[in-house]
Amino acid sequence: MAYFLKELGHRFSSSCKITRLHQHKNFRCCPFPQLQTKVARGSQLCHNVMANTNQFFPKSYNNQSLNGSAVPTLPSYADTSSHICAETLINDMLVINDFISETEEKLLLEEVEPYMARLRYEYTHWDDAILGYRETERSTWNAANTKIINRLKDTAFDNVSSPTNYVHVLDLEENGEIKPHKDSIRYCGNTIAGISLLSDSVMRLVAIDNKELFIDVLLKQRSLYIMRQSARYDYTHEILHNDKSYFKEKHVKKGRRISVICRNSPVVGDERHKDS
Ligand code: OGA
Ligand code: MN
Repeated sequence: MAYFLKELGHRFSSSCKITRLHQHKNFRCCPFPQLQTKVARGSQLCHNVMANTNQFFPKSYNNQSLNGSAVPTLPSYADTSSHICAETLINDMLVINDFISETEEKLLLEEVEPYMARLRYEYTHWDDAILGYRETERSTWNAANTKIINRLKDTAFDNVSSPTNYVHVLDLEENGEIKPHKDSIRYCGNTIAGISLLSDSVMRLVAIDNKELFIDVLLKQRSLYIMRQSARYDYTHEILHNDKSYFKEKHVKKGRRISVICRNSPVVGDERHKDS
């Protein structure tokens, strides 16, 4: 019972709902003209990209291969309507497949499912951003899961942008979907990182100032995605309904999916978060 009350407390003091607030101001233009200049400089782009990614993704991104041509090679987890999105992809949207093992996935599920099972899936979301979901926030985990959460945090966040203690756990039922939205710039900082449990799914990022530019990202079961900076600010993100869940023209069956998501807080003085 104490556990239940504690969890209820989390839920009602929860900030996860407000993190999804739609934002209609403070949009920065996508830096496409800059990208075009870089593309014109040919392989220089790749050098810039490598320098950036080494800085932000030292542990994993080094393994991504770039072929030295003007158009960067897209990571296999990404498909885009235009290579103009490539810079965002390579710098700001990373997926690490098999970030957790099957055993670790079970451990996480064993801890979150008993609480989730008490909630009903909701179809009337307060801001209409999400359908067929139940969710909670959790700040304490058993020892084994604390290790996993710490690994997630160490991988996705640097010292400057440390994540909040509260981990958002979102359970989307088979017929559920997350509609296009941008997480609140008032409550959420520059990085959002999530592990997908139970199912593969497709996340679509759409450029806010040009709806024709989109990136589809294959989120495999047990993968970790790290969405930051431009991917987080200049694009909406959504999880496609099973009926529309296609990646490179192949259907990706989305069953029930639970995501375990960490976010950081906005940094005081960050231009992106002014007047929000
Ligand atoms: C959200 C969201 C993505 C996910 O809750 O705002 O976008 O991976 N979730 O579940
Ligand atoms: Mn979101």
